[in-house]
Amino acid sequence: MPKHIVRLLLLLAGFAIVAITVRNHVVDKSFYKIGHYRADAVAEIAQDKPKFQGSASCESCHAVQFTAWSKSIHHSTDVGKVVKCEVCHGPGGGRDPDPGYVHAATGPVHPVNLKLAVPTDSRTTCGVCHEQIAARPLQQRQVVINDHAGTQQCTLCHDAHSPQTFNGSLVATAAPGNAVAGKSKAGACAACHGAAGITNASLPGPTLAGQNQAYLAAALTAYKTGKRSNPIMTGMAATVNSADINNITSYFSSLRCETSASIAAQAAAARKAGAAMCTNCHGTNGVSTSSSWPNLAGQSKDYIAAALKSYAGGQRSNVIMTTLAKSLSEPEIDKVAAYYAGATCK
Ligand code: HEC
Ligand code: HEC
Ligand code: HEC
Ligand code: HEC
Ligand code: HEC
Ligand code: HEC
Repeated sequence: MPKHIVRLLLLLAGFAIVAITVRNHVVDKSFYKIGHYRADAVAEIAQDKPKFQGSASCESCHAVQFTAWSKSIHHSTDVGKVVKCEVCHGPGGGRDPDPGYVHAATGPVHPVNLKLAVPTDSRTTCGVCHEQIAARPLQQRQVVINDHAGTQQCTLCHDAHSPQTFNGSLVATAAPGNAVAGKSKAGACAACHGAAGITNASLPGPTLAGQNQAYLAAALTAYKTGKRSNPIMTGMAATVNSADINNITSYFSSLRCETSASIAAQAAAARKAGAAMCTNCHGTNGVSTSSSWPNLAGQSKDYIAAALKSYAGGQRSNVIMTTLAKSLSEPEIDKVAAYYAGATCK
């Protein structure tokens, strides 16, 4: 037999030996028992711990977030709509970390050897479910992100764990007072806020008529405690004793406000351009969606602009208003102030 044929046969025999050895010793015993795959694989995977630990597992260590979340709309068990912790934070138990496959029993689990991320870009995290998409069913609440949030993060306004709670906003705690008793204490206020709580261009104070009572009470309290400072009002607020606050604010709140003098210049639509975000809280008509938030209808353009500047400058502070005011340029302030000053009083 020629030499090269012998070498070829030896090579083939070598391949055959390797193939038989691999088939009998390396391939899993259960291979081909049921089909052309490893029959035991299913049972092994079934034994693995799930990657997701479940929201209940987070309660013991993160009680604050868990409590807020479990009372929120993201935990609507009645309608079966639950946005679990791990939807936003990633799985708390790892089964196949990088690199390669690691069996569950040895995979990392939070917090011991797996860090969970805090989303830094909530526009993306929340947008996954809430960004307006034509094909998305309307029952799933949606927003046009750039209109609704401008350039801001969702978490500037929404509490991440209780999204219908707004950060830093006032809480309406003022008990309704006695407007008649309030009127008798309000004489001194007229000098700057106008006879019936309606100011005019020659008076220094803003309109108080028709303003939400809870907001007025919070504003007076803020002057008293120094949280809000103004050379005139800090002194005036000191003269109102705490017992009178509810009465005096009920009085002003019960009065009707008046649409401020018409704003000429640009068309309302153009002025509205910068106010998309503001309408979330102050309404498209200057009447706020919560009684804890001030109405802007009936307020003068100068006062609205001055108020925005005092948030930006630090004389007033509110988590949301400070950030928003700082993000507005001078011409933008001018535009939104004109927009709301043109709003019709309720
Ligand atoms: C046994 C206690 C424990 C449990 C259970 C637990 N965590 Fe934690 N978690 C911690 C500790 C401790 C830290 C801080 C350690 C670190 O930064 O790695 C932490 C950090 C975090 C952070 C990062 C916080 C930050 O400010 O950086 C997130 C997010 C988080 N956990 C979410 C969860 C979620 C979601 C669950 C439920 C699936 C959970 N945790 C379950 C103890 C726990
Ligand atoms: C809808 C998404 C979402 C869900 C659901 C969610 N989180 Fe968060 N979580 C966030 C965001 C966003 C932040 C960052 C908060 C911020 O920047 O104000 C955060 C922050 C945290 C932090 C860091 C500390 C803090 O409060 O800022 C912890 C811890 C945490 N979450 C735990 C949990 C736990 C536990 C659950 C379930 C009970 C949960 N989260 C559910 C989005 C979510
Ligand atoms: C996994 C999907 C999902 C993610 C992510 C998510 N949400 Fe939601 N969100 C929902 C669902 C579903 C509801 C409605 C629950 C119901 O109808 O009871 C809801 C309700 C809301 C509501 C109340 C809407 C109303 O009816 O007035 C607000 C506000 C909200 N989410 C804000 C946020 C914010 C802010 C984030 C990010 C921190 C976020 N959501 C992340 C699914 C999600
Ligand atoms: C400047 C403050 C602010 C920012 C930033 C913000 N929201 Fe809102 N959002 C609000 C207010 C206030 C409401 C309630 C409006 C109302 O009751 O009329 C609201 C309502 C919603 C609703 C319910 C809408 C409906 O039709 O009922 C969803 C969903 C929502 N926001 C999601 C988001 C998401 C997602 C982000 C981030 C991309 C975000 N929001 C950023 C203030 C804000
Ligand atoms: C000497 C003028 C003057 C008098 C008198 C005065 N105020 Fe004021 N008031 C002002 C000015 C100016 C502001 C705006 C200050 C600022 O920008 O913080 C103001 C603001 C307020 C605000 C906040 C309004 C808002 O929309 O945020 C309230 C509430 C208020 N005054 C109540 C009163 C009451 C009640 C009295 C009578 C007891 C009174 N003021 C008397 C000048 C006055
Ligand atoms: C998430 C709700 C929210 C949004 C969005 C919002 N505001 Fe406000 N705004 C408030 C609250 C709450 C206050 C009262 C804060 C305080 O006590 O000083 C306030 C106060 C004000 C005041 C002072 C009113 C007065 O009577 O003194 C002006 C002016 C104002 N906002 C304008 C705006 C403008 C312009 C925008 C848009 C760029 C805007 N706000 C967006 C909640 C909001």
